[in-house]
Amino acid sequence: MQTVHALDPLRNAVSRLREAGPVALVPTMGALHDGHLTLVREARKRAAGVVVSIFVNPLQFGANEDLDAYPRQLARDSALLEAEGVDVLWAPTVEAMYPAGFASNISVAGVSEGLCGASRPGHFDGVATVVCKLFNQVMPDVALFGEKDWQQLAVIRRMARDLDLTRPAADAILGVATVREADGLAMSSRNAYLSADERAAAVALPTAMRAAIAAIEGGADVPATLARMQAGILSGGFRSIDYAELRDADDLAPLAARSEGPMRLIVAARIGPARLIDNMAVNPS
Ligand code: PAF
Repeated sequence: MQTVHALDPLRNAVSRLREAGPVALVPTMGALHDGHLTLVREARKRAAGVVVSIFVNPLQFGANEDLDAYPRQLARDSALLEAEGVDVLWAPTVEAMYPAGFASNISVAGVSEGLCGASRPGHFDGVATVVCKLFNQVMPDVALFGEKDWQQLAVIRRMARDLDLTRPAADAILGVATVREADGLAMSSRNAYLSADERAAAVALPTAMRAAIAAIEGGADVPATLARMQAGILSGGFRSIDYAELRDADDLAPLAARSEGPMRLIVAARIGPARLIDNMAVNPS
């Protein structure tokens, strides 16, 4: 595996990879867990060359968020990626990504509004801007993202469609199913913030979500079910809920009743020092 920290060596490394066939990109912020490694394995199935980026992107963190505390473990992450047979690790410095004078911003309306867009103002501008840069830097044939960040995936696909991106094209931006711990908690780098007691309690989130999905699919009233789900999450040990909504899976339009198209139950809730997000599919009526 070749590790590069600047744009020129990255472009040279990717050019060499491209000679062997299609190139896949897995963008990450590091602190890798099995969810990320699943993305890498899926990337390997789809491309001759696999590039993983690790960049803790300051633009997507709000003033009171965990930018400084966000785990940075490049040596450990690098060993994990090497073991997965990754070809290139792109680990730019902040100066390489945002040189002095950097002044641009990509803002995607619609799908970025509400949900995490409401509780983390500016977050999706930061995500869209860095992901657009990563796409232009690596020019991958395919890019893979975890479905755990469902709204993020919708924002990135919208951006790719709106800006006529070709490397990757919008339909080559692939979502990979959320990887879960044995008890059902979605894997996340932020789970590391939890104490043992908080970690044990955090299972209340997927448990309450599954119960709500069973109720909605069984015909229960959606607002009442969401209220019961929120009560279950809070009584399980979460201190607050940023949002808990049923949304159209594609355009993220809010739904007050079960619809005939694919839906997603999407939740963000706070426990101890962590803000955890999760989403699950709800079958159409
Ligand atoms: O999902 C993440 O880890 C980040 O939001 C991403 C897509 C790497 C952009 O910084």
